Amino acid sequence: MNKDMDLGSMCSPLPRSASVISTGLYLPTRVLSNHELEKMVDTTDEWIRSRTGIRERRIASDKETPSFMGARAAEMALREAQLLPTDIDLLLVATTTPDTVFPSTACHIQRELGARHIPAFDIQAACSGFLYAMFLAGQCIATGAYETILVVGTEKLSTILDWEDRNTCVLFGDGAGAVIMRHCKGKRGILSFELGADGSLGDLLTVPGGGARLPLRPDNIHQKLHYIRMDGRKVFRQAIEAMDRCAKLCLKKAGIRPSDLSCIFPHQANIRIIEALAQRLELPLDAFHVHVERYGNTSAACIPIALHEASHSGRIRSGDLLLLVAFGAGLTWAGIVLEW
Ligand code: ACO
Repeated sequence: MNKDMDLGSMCSPLPRSASVISTGLYLPTRVLSNHELEKMVDTTDEWIRSRTGIRERRIASDKETPSFMGARAAEMALREAQLLPTDIDLLLVATTTPDTVFPSTACHIQRELGARHIPAFDIQAACSGFLYAMFLAGQCIATGAYETILVVGTEKLSTILDWEDRNTCVLFGDGAGAVIMRHCKGKRGILSFELGADGSLGDLLTVPGGGARLPLRPDNIHQKLHYIRMDGRKVFRQAIEAMDRCAKLCLKKAGIRPSDLSCIFPHQANIRIIEALAQRLELPLDAFHVHVERYGNTSAACIPIALHEASHSGRIRSGDLLLLVAFGAGLTWAGIVLEW
């Protein structure tokens, strides 16, 4: 990871603020428990819970494609905002598991929603993708380029898992979340951001096959190159370092202390990563919204799912200061400080 993330891009609040005005989620009903996984690979519920915090995850059916799940989450967010699909000006989708190589999942969702002929495209930054997309939405609102932006994070990670590899198949799950962003008079919205990537460490976490380098050919499929490969220990260390640095830079740019935050929304890969981040920020674990025990790692979907849960349970309220911070393949990282 780049140790010299600088403050050269020190950002003041956007010239025209960008706020989240509503949220939505979609979770497949099929629950896959650790006990079921015990029958599939050489693992135990005890190992998975103690090493990751995960108890169960959701698994999508054939019908529940990333675009299907993303469209349902988007419809929920639209209903909450009392908007129609035709009110959306820009559609951004963060996903690592697109429905098709092309068209983009964003175009599939646009069609499914019945949105106008607005720009619609995917952003691929793995687990950091949703925050990359939120950042971009914030910039588009700040400049006045677009008014009403739908940002979706949707993943069907079950399709890129080797269900015979206990090192990876116990960690991930499927689902989708969405937010609608707009300028709201009197609200500050996004206060700061920090994004980064280090492609030199890309091999630590990769799906090597299925792209143009190693296409889906029988020999590559036979070697299972179309599934997630991960050096868990190294990724674990990188995740803690990157999220810690990113969070602190974001807070500094926003001019606030960790103790000013009402709630932190970290990427949910492993409870031990979240505990380490809590320790480094000198915050109690209950300052963090955690759902990894119920859904596993849902990559780009995990933060919008968490935002929906927290706003609907009353955990976060208008005016609260939130930190969103993510880390993923690439390697990539991203943070946003947001006034809710
Ligand atoms: N059940 C039982 N044993 C297991 C399992 C399992 N499911 N998985 C691995 N083990 C074994 C290993 O084989 C190893 O055995 P060995 O010592 O005989 O070789 C032993 O458990 C310990 O392995 P470690 O890798 O040291 O276990 P660790 O405590 O590091 O936990 C884990 C592994 C959970 C993968 C952890 O390293 C982690 O969470 N890493 C980061 C994951 C992450 O953040 N990923 C992705 C970002 S998301 C994205 O962008 C897609």
